[in-house]
Amino acid sequence: MTRMHWMGSVCAAMILGLGATAFAQPAATWRDTKLSPDRRAELLLQRMSLDDQVALLHGHFPIIMRPPPQGVPASAGYFPAQPKYGIPAIHESDASLGVANAGRGDKDDAAPLPSGLALAATFDPALAFQGGAMIGREARQKGFNVLLAGGANLARDPRNGRNFEYLGEDPLLGGVLDGASIRGIQSNHIVSTAKHYALNDQETGRGSLSAVIGEAAMRESDLLEFEIAIKAGQPGAVMCAYNRVNGTYACENPALLTGVLKHDWGYPGWVMSDWGAVHSLEAATAGLDQESGQEADREVFFDAPLKAAVKDGKLPAAKVHDMALRVLRSLFAEGVIDHPLQSGGLDTRADSDVSGRVAEQAIVLLKTSPGLLPLAAGAGKIAVIGGHADVGVISGGGSSQVIPLGSVRFPSPKGAPAWGGGIVYHPSAPVKAIRARAKGEVAYADGSDPAAAAALAKGAGVAIVFATQWSTEAMDIRMKLDDEQDALIQAVAAANPHTVVVLETGGPVAMPWLGAVGGVLEAWYPGAQGGEAIAKVLFGEANPSGRLPVTFPTGEDQLPRPELPGYASATVEGPTMAEGPPLQVRYDEGSDVGYRWFAAKGLKPLFPFGYGLSYSSFRYGALKAAGGDDLSVSFTVTNTGTRAGIETPQLYLAAGPHRAQQRLLAWSRIALKPGETRRVALSADPRLLADWSEAGHRWKRDAGRYRLFVGPNAAEPALTGEAVVAAGSLAP
Ligand code: BGC
Repeated sequence: MTRMHWMGSVCAAMILGLGATAFAQPAATWRDTKLSPDRRAELLLQRMSLDDQVALLHGHFPIIMRPPPQGVPASAGYFPAQPKYGIPAIHESDASLGVANAGRGDKDDAAPLPSGLALAATFDPALAFQGGAMIGREARQKGFNVLLAGGANLARDPRNGRNFEYLGEDPLLGGVLDGASIRGIQSNHIVSTAKHYALNDQETGRGSLSAVIGEAAMRESDLLEFEIAIKAGQPGAVMCAYNRVNGTYACENPALLTGVLKHDWGYPGWVMSDWGAVHSLEAATAGLDQESGQEADREVFFDAPLKAAVKDGKLPAAKVHDMALRVLRSLFAEGVIDHPLQSGGLDTRADSDVSGRVAEQAIVLLKTSPGLLPLAAGAGKIAVIGGHADVGVISGGGSSQVIPLGSVRFPSPKGAPAWGGGIVYHPSAPVKAIRARAKGEVAYADGSDPAAAAALAKGAGVAIVFATQWSTEAMDIRMKLDDEQDALIQAVAAANPHTVVVLETGGPVAMPWLGAVGGVLEAWYPGAQGGEAIAKVLFGEANPSGRLPVTFPTGEDQLPRPELPGYASATVEGPTMAEGPPLQVRYDEGSDVGYRWFAAKGLKPLFPFGYGLSYSSFRYGALKAAGGDDLSVSFTVTNTGTRAGIETPQLYLAAGPHRAQQRLLAWSRIALKPGETRRVALSADPRLLADWSEAGHRWKRDAGRYRLFVGPNAAEPALTGEAVVAAGSLAP
């Protein structure tokens, strides 16, 4: 309509006696689902008093509230409903690996996924989505609408006691899988976090340590994993970490929260604190929006002090408005407000199948001597030894602990945090699953007597030793098996060279017995159907396809910091949580984390990142590399074995125009029948070809010749090539 026509219509309306009000639109309302989440949040906020806005900004910690709140499940977080605005109560649960349920007694059931590291070993974003979707569904059925999940801390040190919750040492792999898992969770109209932002890379001293690292180094490593995860997963909330970064607490760090997250990445959701991680009201100015589990903080900062600061003019009301807006817009964006929770319908048995699928794809075959694996069903007597394999599979401890019905607990080591009531074994016993498949006798020895175990192994065709390593939040681990298990394996292998070791560990462990054993499987913490998944791989019902998401060093002396800072003097109640004397952890390796460190230093690990065998074999060929404005390759992979199998070809940068520099650029996961050949196309994520330019405040890619390789792992260049790539830059 032209301006003239428009004027004409108004005049005609006035002549007809219609007032201007006849043209007024009905007032916009937050109930209008066609409006954007931000607009709806804005409209709702306009009606809310300061007190009601502030109620969204500080939450309770039901597990430690005294008296416990009525009708509120024992969990990590709770915000009362505000019915006059249609805002439901927020019930938060930890959910990295399933809906965590320590604290809700022995009647609560939930399906545990395998560990995050296991999920990363699948290299499969579709499985990560399915795992997340399963967790989100259970959470809704159990009455939770905000999940403390999406752990995306880089496995910078293999001794970090929480690595099992995270997704390995590579920012691209971890970021892509974390994003997929977050999307899966949020497909249930609930919010997921990404956590713990950032550089919470060891548990020792986490409440006080300062991670010291340069800007480019963190942008290209720890922050890159978050950037990829947050952009792909769009979590409703981001949880900031306990530690300091370059001297300032992560939860009151303006550079991290306001500069990088909200400004550079344009993150629209809210930042919540980790539990007990708020130290001052300045955190609000720095970019923290919500104080979680206020009972865990020294003082409730985001209630009365926040209101007082607004009243005294020390904090603009607009700041509180923005903090509350961020909470509400995510609740609208994910459908938390439009799709109220309806509890019930939980089917943990069906959910366990999702977990079983992850476990099967996650198990990494590290070694097999010819003909040993897969086990023939008629392999004679099988001796199964150790690892409580008659009971179940081990799981990791801490806030992520999932305890399905039927779990069995063993005492945790002296000095360990008591979360979860000890070491929890998920009720999927490998012995039972092996017996179901073996034709001959299966005998079990618990391994407490190495001589008896060796004697049992001597009389068997095959010995399978289950070896475990427990890890937990709030405590770091050594890179070795617990207790006397190395000696047990040595004794069994000396008695029978047909010994297969099944590792259930939180991360890499040294294997002093590797040369003496016939086979090794890394099964991680394999979750609800772990025993079944292990047996399927042992007997060849599933062809192993997991790949290491972390480098396995030969020992701690290969690490950038052979001594874990603060470890020797740490106690659980001491520097781990307390605001103790500041511990500095210098990340001088910069972004050379994991395999990049090994490549930069020319070190040979025990097993490289990306490594994993299959009962098939694969051949790579016919590489074509193309440059220009980006970098892409295509090549063929052929299954040269006699079984159907899955191969995970990986594309790595070997050197940029000016220096050698290894980085994972892309990967694919392909199922091939025997004899089948497939052409695979991969293109590099542009951020991984670039470096972070501090001066230019953007990703910058130099023009020149980029050397690359394609192969089955970070240390095996099956095909090498190069491409000339143009200069480019990318905003953060
Ligand atoms: C952990 C978080 C967790 C929170 C609530 C903290 O100890 O670091 O990952 O979400 O507790 O349980």
